[in-house]
Amino acid sequence: MNFSLFGQKFTRHSGITQLMDDLNDGLRTPGAIMLGGGNPAHIPAMDDYFQHLCRDLLAEGKLTEALCNYDGPQGKDTLLNALADMLRDEQGWDIRPQNIALTNGSQSAFFYLFNLFAGRDENGGLRKVLFPLAPEYIGYADSGLDEDMFVSVRPQIERLPEGQFKYHVDFEKLHITDDIGLICVSRPTNPTGNVLTDDELRHLDSLARQHQIPLLIDNAYGVPFPGIIFSDATPLWNPNIILCMSLSKLGLPGSRCGIVIAAEAVISAIGNMNGIISLAPGSIGPTIAHEMIKRGDLLRLSKNVIRPFYQQRVQQTISIIRRYLPAERCLIHKPEGAIFLWLWFKDLPITTEVLYQRLKRRGVLMVPGHYFFPGLEQEWPHAHQCLRMNYVPEPEKIEQGIAILAEEVERALRETAG
Ligand SMILES: Cc1ncc(COP(=O)(O)O)c(C=O)c1O
Repeated sequence: MNFSLFGQKFTRHSGITQLMDDLNDGLRTPGAIMLGGGNPAHIPAMDDYFQHLCRDLLAEGKLTEALCNYDGPQGKDTLLNALADMLRDEQGWDIRPQNIALTNGSQSAFFYLFNLFAGRDENGGLRKVLFPLAPEYIGYADSGLDEDMFVSVRPQIERLPEGQFKYHVDFEKLHITDDIGLICVSRPTNPTGNVLTDDELRHLDSLARQHQIPLLIDNAYGVPFPGIIFSDATPLWNPNIILCMSLSKLGLPGSRCGIVIAAEAVISAIGNMNGIISLAPGSIGPTIAHEMIKRGDLLRLSKNVIRPFYQQRVQQTISIIRRYLPAERCLIHKPEGAIFLWLWFKDLPITTEVLYQRLKRRGVLMVPGHYFFPGLEQEWPHAHQCLRMNYVPEPEKIEQGIAILAEEVERALRETAG
């Protein structure tokens, strides 16, 4: 097929496509242990809540109204108004509806924003997106229209008690050169569960302002919703920050609703891009979210149901891991948020890519670490020593998966010993 350059770039094999394919195949393979993808948990209380809410919305004609009409390109007005009020009241941010736009999932917002601020400029130069701390979210890696649009920096690694560690931004190595058009961090971070400290975030914010480039904070897991964050991290917004949020990890990934909070000029650009690319964002997610805000449920459920569920599940998963894999075999990134654990097999004689293939053959899906280093210029062995697992499935399933993981780790060690 004779594809354009765009066609060639966006049809080649990418980490995110492999991940979504595996997830899809795994979902149809009986008995597969799915610790790979980013699907949020089916929390019974939340599933129940959405069931009732949708029934009410249907009875009141609101769902049909949403289905039968286009919203404006910036997204459903009623949600923009309600979100602006809520964020002003809750966070004290000076936000009006003109500071918010909706997109079809936050993933599409990153595509818009990366290509809005990075890529070829009018002088033929190439502006880049800087990830100040790799590992970073796999979904960013292939979303640039131009090649080589991303740069990232290795973190400092702090070793912690109980076989844990934590990544920190290495500010000594972080150079914001003239070709950087945007700085981007996920907080909490997918894949590691890291939460940048308030100091780190303030430091990045001041560097971004100094260099007159925006700081994009991907808050898909953060506060005030869905609230999957276990450390004391203060959310930050000002007109130089582009804060991206989502309904997905609330339990509504199928609603494909992303939320961008930014200066008016950025929001107006997003509205234009929405118009050109998709006419308008979908209306179902915003109808549900608006009703949740109206009923006072969005923040209440995030705090009282979603966060405790994940906090309990992550602790349970760590104790399962430790029954099979002691700290000498596997270090665990301190879990501060998001829905993943990031495991570091420091002395593994095979790469985690090979380990991933072996696990897949045994019906266990996890994601090898090297995908999560978009833009890292130099090879780093650490990238091939890590593995991401989702801790969302039932504990029995997790235990089966971990038991197989431990067997494969031992097998790899035996192979080199023998
Ligand atoms: C850090 C992070 N950001 C953004 C997204 C994209 O979410 P969505 O497009 O469903 O809003 C994900 C999904 O897993 C994620 O992990």
